Amino acid sequence: MRLEGKVAVITGGGSGIGAATARTFVREGAAVVIADIDEAAGEKVAAEVRESGGTIDLRVCDASRPEEIDALVAFALDRHGALDVLHNNHVAFESGRVGDLSLEGFRRSLDASLVAYWYATKVALVPMLAQGRGAIVNTASVSGLAGDYGLGAYNVLKAGVVNLSRVTAIEYARKGIRCNAVCPGPIGTPPIDRLHDAAPQTWEDIREAIPMGRYGRAEEIANAVLFLASDEASFVTGTHLVADGGLWAHSGMPPIGGLGHDF
Ligand SMILES: NC(=O)c1ccc[n+]([C@@H]2O[C@H](COP(=O)([O-])OP(=O)(O)OC[C@H]3O[C@@H](n4cnc5c(N)ncnc54)[C@H](O)[C@@H]3O)[C@@H](O)[C@H]2O)c1
Repeated sequence: MRLEGKVAVITGGGSGIGAATARTFVREGAAVVIADIDEAAGEKVAAEVRESGGTIDLRVCDASRPEEIDALVAFALDRHGALDVLHNNHVAFESGRVGDLSLEGFRRSLDASLVAYWYATKVALVPMLAQGRGAIVNTASVSGLAGDYGLGAYNVLKAGVVNLSRVTAIEYARKGIRCNAVCPGPIGTPPIDRLHDAAPQTWEDIREAIPMGRYGRAEEIANAVLFLASDEASFVTGTHLVADGGLWAHSGMPPIGGLGHDF
C-alpha cells in the first residue's frame, strides 16, 4: 500500500476529485480527514468509506475561514498524532468576463480558493516541520496555466495555486517537505454534470476540444494526487502535474486542412 500509516487531510473531500482522492488514499492505507462545507455530501463519502473498513473522519468546515482550518489541522493531529499529507482541493469562485466581475466576487474567489490554500499550508507546515516530513498537493488546473473565456477570477486564483506550490516547495525542500500541484483538465464531477444539464452544447464543445475526446474521471486525478502524495514522488517537488487528456498540449489551432491528414 502506497500510503500505509500516513495521515491525510483533504479539503473539498465531499464531492468530485476530493471524494475520489479520499477513497484512493484510504484504499492505499491512509487515515483520512475530509473537510467540506457541505455536511450531507461529506457524510455520504465518509459513511461509504467507513463501510468498506477504511479510517475516515468528516469535519464540516468552511476552509476559507482561518479558525476552521486551525481546528481542522488540530483535529487531525489530536486524532492521529501526525499530519503527513495536506491536499488543498476545494474551490469556490465567481465566473464572468474580466470587466464584468464584481470587486466583492473577485476578492471572495481569491480569498476562498487561494488565500485558504496558503493559510492551510501555513498551519500544516507546523506539524510537518516538527515531524521533518510532509507532502502537500494543491489542486490547481490547466486554467492556472492559460486563460479561459469567462473564468478570469478562476484563472488568476489557479495560477496563484501553481506558484504557491513552487515557493512552498523551494522554501521547505531541505526540511523534508514536498509541495506540488495537480492540474486537471475538464473532469466529470458535479460542476461539469451541471454544465451538461444547463448548456449541453458547451459541454459537447469542451469534450470535442480535448484531444482524447472525453472528459477525465475523478479517479484519474486521484491517481495523480496519490503519486505526488506518496514516497514514490520522493524527488518530485515544486512541479505541476497536468492530467487533461492532452488539452493543454494543444496550441488552439484547428486541424490544418489541405495537407491530406485525418485526425
Ligand atoms: N471538475 C473539473 O473539471 C476540474 C478541472 C480542473 C480543476 N478542478 C479543481 O478540482 C477541485 C475539485 O473540483 P471538483 O470538480 O471535484 O468540484 P466539486 O464541486 O465536485 O467538489 C468541490 C467540493 O468543495 C467543497 N467546498 C467548496 N467551498 C468550500 C469551502 N469553503 N470549504 C470547504 N469545502 C468547500 C464543496 O462543497 C464540494 O464538496 C477544485 O479545486 C477545482 O477547481 C476541477
